[in-house]
Amino acid sequence: MSNKLDVSKEFIGRRALVTGGTRGIGAAIAQRLLDAGAKVVVTARSRGDSLPAGAAFVAGDVASASGVKAIAAGTLQVLGGLDILVNNAGGASGFPRGVASIPDEDWQSAIALNLFAAIRLTHALLPALRESQAGAIVNISSGAATMSVGAIAHYAAAKAALNSYSRALAIDLAPHKVRVNVVSPGPVTTPGSREFSEALGAPPDLFAKEIPLGRYGAPEDVAEMVALLTSDRGKWMTGGILNVDGGMSAR
Ligand SMILES: NC(=O)c1ccc[n+]([C@@H]2O[C@H](COP(=O)([O-])OP(=O)(O)OC[C@H]3O[C@@H](n4cnc5c(N)ncnc54)[C@H](OP(=O)(O)O)[C@@H]3O)[C@@H](O)[C@H]2O)c1
Repeated sequence: MSNKLDVSKEFIGRRALVTGGTRGIGAAIAQRLLDAGAKVVVTARSRGDSLPAGAAFVAGDVASASGVKAIAAGTLQVLGGLDILVNNAGGASGFPRGVASIPDEDWQSAIALNLFAAIRLTHALLPALRESQAGAIVNISSGAATMSVGAIAHYAAAKAALNSYSRALAIDLAPHKVRVNVVSPGPVTTPGSREFSEALGAPPDLFAKEIPLGRYGAPEDVAEMVALLTSDRGKWMTGGILNVDGGMSAR
């Protein structure tokens, strides 16, 4: 018998929740898990028109406490338990005039969406993840967390805090065999990144010159690394921050 891993159906029997799974990176993650046999719930505020084939949809706003409660309950109702949590929903508006021009409410909403959503959802779903034999959390951060860009300082600060939170959580949950890792993408072509560039009046490939591999990422490039970390192939990895950015952070 071959010792080679068959990864094509490695998520059979696994139950996953992907936040922001209706488009962009989240949809690619959901599709990747579904393709290898997982049962997947995606959540977003609205269903959209490109839900990954085979995914169940639970509506909710991850940036509010009541939304998180509804998402957690709806997910457990559909799946009957949980093995994989991907906190992917995120983003923020840009402020070209710099840090001091970012209003209070935008700081608060960036923190609610990019940090607090993951904290609340993790707490709500922790009992289910602890019961799993293969519990894995991936939080989607951003290369911005380690860069100084005034226009998105609120977003970068929230993602940096998400990195710190995730590392601490990984240590706390290790005795329960629930693994926690961060995937930190560089610029990826998604509806969100296109909207962001348009709002700033910038070209959609603004950062391409800074990427050693010479191109923006595709959502699937990120999804593949999430599959690695949430599968048994990643079973000895926890507390990691994986840069998936065409080499941008190595500069
Ligand atoms: N694209 C990039 O270049 C890039 C780079 C680094 C990191 N990232 C990170 O990667 C993640 C995904 O980015 P993306 O570019 O794929 O995003 P996107 O295209 O804007 O999609 C965002 C998804 O999140 C959902 N969402 C947004 N706000 C939500 C809320 N309050 N509650 C529930 N769902 C919400 C959206 O659906 P609804 O609007 O219907 O709620 C949508 O499904 C984010 O965390 C982002 O910070 C992206």
